[in-house]
Amino acid sequence: MIVNKKYIKRHKMGFVYFHWINAVSFFMLLLTALPLYADSFRFLYDTFGAATLQYAHRVFAVIFILNPIIGLVTAHDGIRRLVKEVVSFGRDDIVFNQKFPAELIGKEPEGIPPQSFYNGGEKMNILLQAVLWALLVISGAVLWFGDGVVSPVIRTWMIPLHSICAGFGFAAAIGHIYLAVGVNPDSCHGMLDGTVKASYAVKHHGKWVDELVAQSSLTEDEVKKAVEADEPVEDASIQARPV
Ligand code: HEM
Repeated sequence: MIVNKKYIKRHKMGFVYFHWINAVSFFMLLLTALPLYADSFRFLYDTFGAATLQYAHRVFAVIFILNPIIGLVTAHDGIRRLVKEVVSFGRDDIVFNQKFPAELIGKEPEGIPPQSFYNGGEKMNILLQAVLWALLVISGAVLWFGDGVVSPVIRTWMIPLHSICAGFGFAAAIGHIYLAVGVNPDSCHGMLDGTVKASYAVKHHGKWVDELVAQSSLTEDEVKKAVEADEPVEDASIQARPV
């Protein structure tokens, strides 16, 4: 479906809310735990009180755990899509991941194959975030409820596991935010109202656009017109100026 002449519907709003609840709860979990790792963040304990932050950590943990479970109902299309994309990781995704890094140093790599709904890098991010989510939840649950239930040795091992997963999650989130905001700012529109520019979709997710055309959700003509609607209009006053 074309929206406002140049946008294509990409994400349902249920998925957009799911994404932001996940993002905010993840960062609040980090923030409320930071004083445990670095003295430079002790001021958070001094400002809000250690007990309040530890309590807040558990509240955000519950939100972080429940969000994808509730999302199975409220964002089922988007979550089904995440799973489908990860299990369809193939040759084009490998080639994308080999060639894409050159873009990060300002080059225009040749021969990047058209990408599906998510590109090869996004597919790896989805898998990593899903694995980290599961490990954070399991290790966190053992630390919270495991006293007297699991052996003290296992419980002790959950502390570094929980911290390592949080560290990897933070690094992946920073990389993900840089790629979204810094490298592909047009993608962020999709996480605001669920639509992206047709020109962005054709350039970065060509196979997905072909899929929409093949299932008659869009016609090739609509895509062409929506891409053209985004092209800069030449300044008539410059053309009219006498030489
Ligand atoms: C300011 C923070 C963030 C911004 C601007 C942002 C932006 C985005 C955008 C634009 C997309 C859609 C990409 C597309 O349609 O192709 C997306 C997807 C996604 N986001 Fe975020 N995000 C943020 C934080 C996070 C955090 C903290 C996490 C995880 C803890 C996360 C996990 C994901 C995942 C798994 C996806 C789907 C796959 C992907 O695009 O990599 N995001 N995000």
